[in-house]
Amino acid sequence: MVGISKRFPGVVANDDASFEAAEGEVHALLGENGAGKTTLSNILTGLYRQDEGEIELYGEQVRFHSPRDALDAGICMVHQHFRLVEPFSVAENVVLGDHRREGRRLVVHSGAIEKRVGELSSRYGLAVNPRARVWQLSVGEQQRVEILKALYREARILIMDEPTAVLTPQEAKALFETLRAMADEGKTVIFISHKLHEVKAVADRVTVLRAGRTVATVDARSATLSSLAALMVGREIDVARPLEQPRTLSDVLTLEVDGLTVAGDRGNIAVKDVSFALREGEIVGVAGVAGNGQRELAEALSGMRDLRAGSVRVGGKQLRGGDPREAIMAGVAHVPEDRLGTGLAPSLSVTSNVVIKTYRSRSLSRGPLLALRRMRETAVGIIRRYDVKTPGPGTPVRNLSGGNLQKLVLGREFADDPLVLVVAQPTRGLDVGAIETVHSYLREAAANGVAILLMSEDLDEIRALADRILVVYEGEIVGELSAGSTSIEEIGLLMAGGTRG
Ligand SMILES: Nc1ncnc2c1ncn2[C@@H]1O[C@H](COP(=O)(O)OP(=O)(O)OP(=O)(O)O)[C@@H](O)[C@H]1O
Ligand SMILES: [Mg+2]
Repeated sequence: MVGISKRFPGVVANDDASFEAAEGEVHALLGENGAGKTTLSNILTGLYRQDEGEIELYGEQVRFHSPRDALDAGICMVHQHFRLVEPFSVAENVVLGDHRREGRRLVVHSGAIEKRVGELSSRYGLAVNPRARVWQLSVGEQQRVEILKALYREARILIMDEPTAVLTPQEAKALFETLRAMADEGKTVIFISHKLHEVKAVADRVTVLRAGRTVATVDARSATLSSLAALMVGREIDVARPLEQPRTLSDVLTLEVDGLTVAGDRGNIAVKDVSFALREGEIVGVAGVAGNGQRELAEALSGMRDLRAGSVRVGGKQLRGGDPREAIMAGVAHVPEDRLGTGLAPSLSVTSNVVIKTYRSRSLSRGPLLALRRMRETAVGIIRRYDVKTPGPGTPVRNLSGGNLQKLVLGREFADDPLVLVVAQPTRGLDVGAIETVHSYLREAAANGVAILLMSEDLDEIRALADRILVVYEGEIVGELSAGSTSIEEIGLLMAGGTRG
């Protein structure tokens, strides 16, 4: 890709950017939130058309008029937000939209398709049941379906947009092996990430984008974490995060959870008889491998899921449960893991998304014109304070970059002065600079008395922020540790279902 420029109203997403990748290599594309990584990939996959610049594929200039053209040329992309059809099976999703099957019925040779999918999954270490329905799968499994889709189409170039943002460390390791196997067969893998150690672990070369421009292409082995961070943000950054000092906390209990049991999507028991309490201003980390009840716990606390048994009290007031409005009124804020699916309404504007929880409040609903102006002002306030990069409050949120979506949800949830903040993976998908910012917002909220339940798979993050750590395994709390005195190995062992020796 040579001299690629792409402008959106009010934004230059790519500014004379250049990028080259070879056969048989894993090439990482690194850059801060909004640097233009996804846009560049969308151009390569024919989703967007560049304003300027050329694309050459295997030595020949190409012009893509649609995603179909790029697919025909062997280019596939696994998007930051998956594009699977949930009620369909894995095998159906794999063949759905296959350009070579145009006009043919979908479920013709389901047996043959399932067999092929099975072969591909064992060859590339992509464990997933071809007959399972997509809605039943974990995020990690859904990603494997997306990769299988690309393999089934015999992609020569695979672009993965922040694939590890949704994975556990173990799943990420398995993914790297898959990507390496693909590269060893001569395919080209383009790996988008802001996680510096991953880039070093999986990539052969790294191209760094900053503000839409290509800053450098470097050899991954000889680059260091600090040299990559410096290229990415254009200044020196301390990649090692310091541990916090223990703080003195008030005795007021803001959140009390007693014997809570919550059912999962498949009628199983996802949270089993869990009891804990959060004090005013306390940050409690919930460590655990994804799928051990964290999501169900967060949803129960925020009223999105019924309480099967037990009780939840917020600021001394007992919740009936299963009613998001009740939880919001009681002072529970929730930043869900799945930002674009659960946290935001993608096609609505930034303003609508910001006021979506509070539009019933008096200050926003008195007099139609006044209300619109207030709503807009609220949105502009959050855009400024949280440095959300967007052309304006009227932009539909689906046009925001991944990191900026995250800042927007955080800003909205903090804006209501909650008593309790339940936050899942707050810095997933964020670059180093934005992580520093989000961490400082969480600390500030805690300093102002907000009790924070921090669910994170990033143990460094939990150790940097939490006063106390609860470890969950199969829906139960299997350990409670003080943050300062605990090693990563110790937490990791409990997370994997081990016991403390
Ligand atoms: N369809 C669109 N309409 C308007 N603006 C857009 C659109 N797509 C991207 N942008 C803007 O272009 C810039 C680059 O966005 P892009 O999604 O490429 O960044 P990114 O490097 O992938 O960031 P992140 O790491 O946060 O995912 C951002 O400012 C974004 O808001
Ligand atoms: Mg992106």
